[in-house]
Amino acid sequence: MKEFKRIGVLTSGGDAPGMNAAVRAVTRSALARGVEVMGIYRGYSGLISGDIRPLGLRDVSNCINHGGTMLYSDRCPEFKTEEGMKQAVATCRRLGIDGIVAIGGDGTFRGATELTHYGVPCVGIPGTIDNDITSTDETIGFDTAMNTVIEMVDRLRDTCESHARCNVVEVMGRGAGDIALNTAIASGATAVIIPELPFDESAVIEKMKNSKKLGKRNFIVIVSEGVGHDLGPALTERIEAETGIETRFARLAHVVRGGTPTLRDRVLSSRMGEFAVEQLLMGRSDIVICTRNGEIVSIDINYALVLDRMYKGKLKDGDLAPFTEAEISEMRAFCEEKRVSLASLYRTACDLNL
Ligand code: ADP
Ligand code: F6P
Repeated sequence: MKEFKRIGVLTSGGDAPGMNAAVRAVTRSALARGVEVMGIYRGYSGLISGDIRPLGLRDVSNCINHGGTMLYSDRCPEFKTEEGMKQAVATCRRLGIDGIVAIGGDGTFRGATELTHYGVPCVGIPGTIDNDITSTDETIGFDTAMNTVIEMVDRLRDTCESHARCNVVEVMGRGAGDIALNTAIASGATAVIIPELPFDESAVIEKMKNSKKLGKRNFIVIVSEGVGHDLGPALTERIEAETGIETRFARLAHVVRGGTPTLRDRVLSSRMGEFAVEQLLMGRSDIVICTRNGEIVSIDINYALVLDRMYKGKLKDGDLAPFTEAEISEMRAFCEEKRVSLASLYRTACDLNL
């Protein structure tokens, strides 16, 4: 079995609260096992340019409670080229980096699997507020982002109640409606619009007119950015025109990506970071660390990426070729279960929020 003397850790793609807790967990778990740790700054850009420094026990002190990422992050198109990849491999060889834990989203995992094939074993950890990585029940940063959204929406509701207004609130999530849907339930929003499911605008307008007649003063409508950035402002105008309720639009944007990570994110990050190191040192790579029903598990990166494309209806020719019939059926069943659970959450949002 390969002996690991030194590993690297990086954060890449959009940052997410909890990434620091994951870096800390990776660092301390590796050091506890006698393996040195190198902090790779600015994601794959730092791997190419050699922006890398050793991380000791105390270098990751006082970071578990901070949002953002102490290693910084970047989007690095150069890493997708053969030249960029070869430079990254050369950096690893030069600095004696035997393996890497890469914290990020699906783009980061595509990079990690490439790097593994070039001879540097990698393990991925899902860090993104969007919760859009199908293979894991939860991603690092999702819980914090949702808690930030409900805090903001509660504030908007106060002022809506005072002025008898509606606020349309757009939240991040890329193509996934998870942040919007869960926060709509938790904040008692009148309606929620997500990219995965159809939205009946006239029914919502009717519902708002009726509620207004019955004395309701404040209205919140949550819109996931995945339905397009034009929808929120346009809907704001239509709601006001058709219901007579004064309506404002708020885009929470990157506000939701920063801030102190919640307990849940800190624990998830710590567990995933430790597990990632255990797996890497056991000789496992080309895997992503996931959570399934509360357990931390590892899943082959290619399986995770294909499962993700299957769920999002983006399968490419040949994607399923490496898998057995049993694996493909398992993937289909998993996607179906996820769709059913999303639809059930959506029904809850519609049924309770009147
Ligand atoms: P996320 O990881 O949040 O999905 P990105 O999609 O921006 O964010 O991906 C992060 C980085 O991963 C990219 O900037 C690039 O350096 C690397 N990456 C993405 N796709 C690939 C790929 N196909 N091959 C190699 N590296 C990739
Ligand atoms: O993936 C995280 C995320 O914040 C998405 O929710 C959002 O669509 C995107 O990144 C924004 O990207 P940028 O930081 O490049 O504006």
